[in-house]
Amino acid sequence: MKGPYKAVRVSEHVYWVGAIDWGIRDFHGYSTERGTTYNAYLVVADKIALIDTVKAPFKDEMLSRIASVIDPQDISIIVSNHSEMDHSGCLTDVIAEVNPEKVLASTMGVKALSAHFHTDREIQAVGNGENLNLGNMELSFIETRMLHWPDSMFTYLGKDELLFSQDGFGMHLATDERFADEISDEILEYEAVKYYANILMPFSTLVNNTVKKVGTLGLSIKIIAPDHGPIWRKDPGKIIDFYSNWAAQEPSNKVVIVYDTMWESTAAMANAIAEGVIAGGAHPKVMPLKSSHRSDIATEVLLAGALLVGSPTINNNMFPTVADILTYLKGLKPRNLIGAAFGSYGWSGEAVGQVEEILKAMKIDLIAEGNKVQYVPDTAALKNCYNLGMAVAKKLTG
Ligand code: FEO
Repeated sequence: MKGPYKAVRVSEHVYWVGAIDWGIRDFHGYSTERGTTYNAYLVVADKIALIDTVKAPFKDEMLSRIASVIDPQDISIIVSNHSEMDHSGCLTDVIAEVNPEKVLASTMGVKALSAHFHTDREIQAVGNGENLNLGNMELSFIETRMLHWPDSMFTYLGKDELLFSQDGFGMHLATDERFADEISDEILEYEAVKYYANILMPFSTLVNNTVKKVGTLGLSIKIIAPDHGPIWRKDPGKIIDFYSNWAAQEPSNKVVIVYDTMWESTAAMANAIAEGVIAGGAHPKVMPLKSSHRSDIATEVLLAGALLVGSPTINNNMFPTVADILTYLKGLKPRNLIGAAFGSYGWSGEAVGQVEEILKAMKIDLIAEGNKVQYVPDTAALKNCYNLGMAVAKKLTG
């Protein structure tokens, strides 16, 4: 299909043929303020291979970019590195249009694609370390199970020293610049760490192991081509180093204070705690839930040393927005945090205890009893909050 879209050359034999989603702002609960891209890649070898596809509504954009280089009918191989639908949504339609010789995925990928698309089309499994001959070059497959789905794998093109890393090393960023070296460090790091925190944080141990595993394979990697955002062609070591640091989750002197409030009492407590944190020599990041998105909170928590959560009690329960963020953060499994709960209540005051139970389940080291204030905090109550902030700061800096 010819159209206005053009492929972008990545290396001698590889073209980017993905799609730019300028308008997406909610990616299954993750706020994507700068949009995203779904990256697919064409390997122009004796046998032409397409690495991953795109989200279903962007199929024609991808085929148009492919058609700017070759006739899509000339594709012999399609590799699915990851079966999540932002990369496989149009796979069955593309298979029907292109009729490739082979469609390949990891063993778990074959199962996942079958469970998504219920198609009779055969998808062949490739094992970890297996190679595929494309004539004048070959593809190698590296299983990366649970990074971040069971089916996930990397594909390596030795001829161009290029690693197709699916979601790994990616970010949500819609831009006309295809390469990381064309984008400011500030934007790159902000979007890359946000992506890591919201997609990969629960698998940090695996991230470390995978970085080591790829290292021990002795592959020369000059280019990392992920499935979202820019391609790392000048200094791929930069994003690998970032991942090693983030995966370690070393506690910092940052104290994330997340709260919601009904009549500003819990807000007053949060602000008093923040003043205590400053006085104790640490750095508060106060994130009211009325103005802070859960994916931005997760990003701050990844790089923090403490998490304090405040909730008023409403109808014998924590505030619904507090339940939302705690559910989300619990799933992301942040590590190496200290913490505490606080909040105002009217007569029963269950919320603080409920928050504490979830923080304990998250293996957060509670350094103080939950700080509860009836109705409106007076000067003494605010001083207690201040002291709590100072105690948290001292623990982090001491
Ligand atoms: Fe970009 Fe896990 O999909």
